[in-house]
Amino acid sequence: MDRVTLQQLQAMKERGEPITMLTAYDYPTALLIDQAGIDLILVGDSLGMVVHGFENTLPVTMDMMVLHCQAVRRGTRRALLVADMPFMSYQTGVTDALRNAARLLAEGGADAVKLEGGQRIAETVRALVETGIAVMGHIGLTPQSVSALGGFKVQGGTVEAARRLLDDARALQEAGAFSLVLEAVPARLAALITRSLTIPTIGIGAGGGCDGQVLVTHDVLGLYERLTPRFARRYAHLADVMRQAFAQFRQEVLTRAFPAAEHEFSISDDVWQALLKELGEE
Ligand code: KIV
Repeated sequence: MDRVTLQQLQAMKERGEPITMLTAYDYPTALLIDQAGIDLILVGDSLGMVVHGFENTLPVTMDMMVLHCQAVRRGTRRALLVADMPFMSYQTGVTDALRNAARLLAEGGADAVKLEGGQRIAETVRALVETGIAVMGHIGLTPQSVSALGGFKVQGGTVEAARRLLDDARALQEAGAFSLVLEAVPARLAALITRSLTIPTIGIGAGGGCDGQVLVTHDVLGLYERLTPRFARRYAHLADVMRQAFAQFRQEVLTRAFPAAEHEFSISDDVWQALLKELGEE
């Protein structure tokens, strides 16, 4: 099966065909997302919160990203695989950014990396792109700056902030990013940014005017109950399904309804009789 390419994503924007992206952090989920025909799979640093239970994404390390990326790679055939560069893996300079991005590609098997930030990281993005690394940008609500932003809040609410987001988007495109995530940006502003760029925008909490949409898979599946962003839609309630399955397993073990005959392995009568004889238990 042919892998989705950057050129195909660009062509989708030009044709006005919506682009789809979901996060995955493990092999079985990646396999199912890929089978559903989703265009991009993101190994997001949101894994710090939804898989590892941290309060935010800041404790996520390169080693964690590489490990999750390897698992997702094994389940991904068609989708383009993007890996987040975690906090402080690129903010410390171009050399660190190049080394860490190379790890995500060479060890993790990612096709592209995603970095948070606008104009201030444009030179880093340029250096990565010039080295041959495909880069996706991420502006608006950038969770690695959650404290500086004053929490998980919508961005671009003043003329100055909106103008800055537009300038950030243009700077990233100019630096060679192949696409941008717009997170928690007012819908009209996200649509304006989308119209003023030639590269595709992928929105999350940024309205229907973006070229594509991304959600955190745990929100889609109803698996992360600690925080439910207003912009996410639940397509399933797997937490309820899992709780019910675990409780039923417990109940069936307690009542000896599990395991049943079909779950047991047999031993031949000959072997059994010989064993009993040897043990003196005939
Ligand atoms: O880490 C993540 O899952 C993300 C998405 C919210 C876009 O960056």
